[in-house]
Amino acid sequence: LPTREGWWTTFVLYHGCWLSSPTATSVSLVRAQFAPRHDDLLLATYPKCGTTWLKALSFAVANRSRHRVAGGDHPLLTSHPQDLVPFIELPYRHLHPLAALDALPSPRLLCTHMPPQLLPPRVAELGCRIVYLCREPKDVVVSMWHYMNKVGNGFFLDLDKAFELFVDGFSLFGPIWDHCLGYWKKSMEEPDTVLFLKYDDMMADPAGHVKKLADFLRVPFTDEEVGAGVVEEVVRLCSFEKLSRLPVNSSAVVDRIGGRPMNSAFFRKGKAGDWKNYLSEEMANKLDAVIEEKLKGSGLTF
Ligand code: A3P
Repeated sequence: LPTREGWWTTFVLYHGCWLSSPTATSVSLVRAQFAPRHDDLLLATYPKCGTTWLKALSFAVANRSRHRVAGGDHPLLTSHPQDLVPFIELPYRHLHPLAALDALPSPRLLCTHMPPQLLPPRVAELGCRIVYLCREPKDVVVSMWHYMNKVGNGFFLDLDKAFELFVDGFSLFGPIWDHCLGYWKKSMEEPDTVLFLKYDDMMADPAGHVKKLADFLRVPFTDEEVGAGVVEEVVRLCSFEKLSRLPVNSSAVVDRIGGRPMNSAFFRKGKAGDWKNYLSEEMANKLDAVIEEKLKGSGLTF
């Protein structure tokens, strides 16, 4: 471990879910040691579904009484969104930030890539609220392929091989269909606990989603804020165009202690439908058929 092809091909079966080996180690530590609080707000995503964007939006919305969104000193102008909302698990190394999480004041804004069935049971027992963001799987596999080849410590997979693994359900946090479906079902059963969002819908109506997010975070926009254009300011501040051009996010800084990849790796194109530039018709049809079969009868579509 890792094999020549890095984290792509080293998988273990953990509680019925195929995870990459470093992920399984990290998840087991979190399950044993992470102490959820009833007022924790968890941002949950499958990797490459727009985590960075959701972190930025949620941070800006939740902290707007402390940090004026249009202010020249907003933390999002100088800190990477990944650093403003910590993961409860760190998939990059076997290290994890549990002590740092314990030290955070409530209510905590936290993030996870863990599938719902692997979350520490206390998260459900305490009724912690979750915002889940998913994305069209064809865009996810293309985004993932670019990302992994950028951060894989010199390991490189061609797209055909990466695609086959993805379609067969081998990925950092298990098959995308199980991940999405698990959170989808929870959101159907407990709509007050799980807010289910889709990247493409957010791209089509970012302002509507920012309002929805604020309502769910229990910090709704006042009429005065709406009138003053604060919703649009959040959208602008967190847009791909704005964030990806900031020096902090375009740099090749690597957090060697936390093991986080270079800052710029989280920003590539930021578009819906880029898969058309990479996947053949045959690949697209194959993934579509798998997703259709797996999601059949659930009401969830992409
Ligand atoms: P692409 O590779 O398709 O460009 P994650 O944050 O979960 O790792 O997902 C990364 C994907 O989200 C990348 O997709 C990245 O470009 C895109 N992204 C990052 N910031 C974004 C933003 N502010 N708005 C929209 N998309 C964003």
